[in-house]
Amino acid sequence: MLALGCDHGGYELMQEIKHYLDERKIAYQDFGCYSMEAVDYPVYAKKVGKAIQDGVCDRGILICGTGIGISITANKMRGIRAALCTDCFCAEATRLHNDANVLALGGRVVGPGLAVKIVDTFLNTPFSGEERHKRRIAMIEE
Ligand code: RB5
Repeated sequence: MLALGCDHGGYELMQEIKHYLDERKIAYQDFGCYSMEAVDYPVYAKKVGKAIQDGVCDRGILICGTGIGISITANKMRGIRAALCTDCFCAEATRLHNDANVLALGGRVVGPGLAVKIVDTFLNTPFSGEERHKRRIAMIEE
C-alpha cells in the first residue's frame, strides 16, 4: 500500500498521480491535503512517514512546491528514506542503491508527464540487494 501526502504546492500534481495510480489499480491511502488551501507541509510528511513506520504502508509519495521541505521533514523520521527526484535516472538509482521508501516530487518543478514516468520508475525498480548498498543503508539507520 502506498501512502500519499502533499501540501497546497503539490496538490494539483498529486491529482495527476492519483489518476495514474487509479488507472493501474495501484492501492494507496491519501493522507491529504485535500484542496489548494495553504497548509504546512511537515504535517503531511509526518503522516506518510508514520504510516510507513507503523507498517500500514510500505512506500510513499510526497509532493510540495519544490519537494524540498517535505523531503527534509520525512528524512528526519527513523526508517524513512525519502528521495527528491526530478528525473527517471535518479528514481531508478535511489531504488537500486538507497532502497528509498518515499519518492518526493516538486509540484512546481516537474510537469505531470515526467512526474508519472518518475513514479512508474520508482514503483517498478527493486532494491538491488547488493552488500555495499545494504551496508550503507545500515549506516544511515545508525
Ligand atoms: C509552499 O509555498 C512551499 O514553501 C512548499 O510547498 C515547499 O516548496 C517547501 O519546501
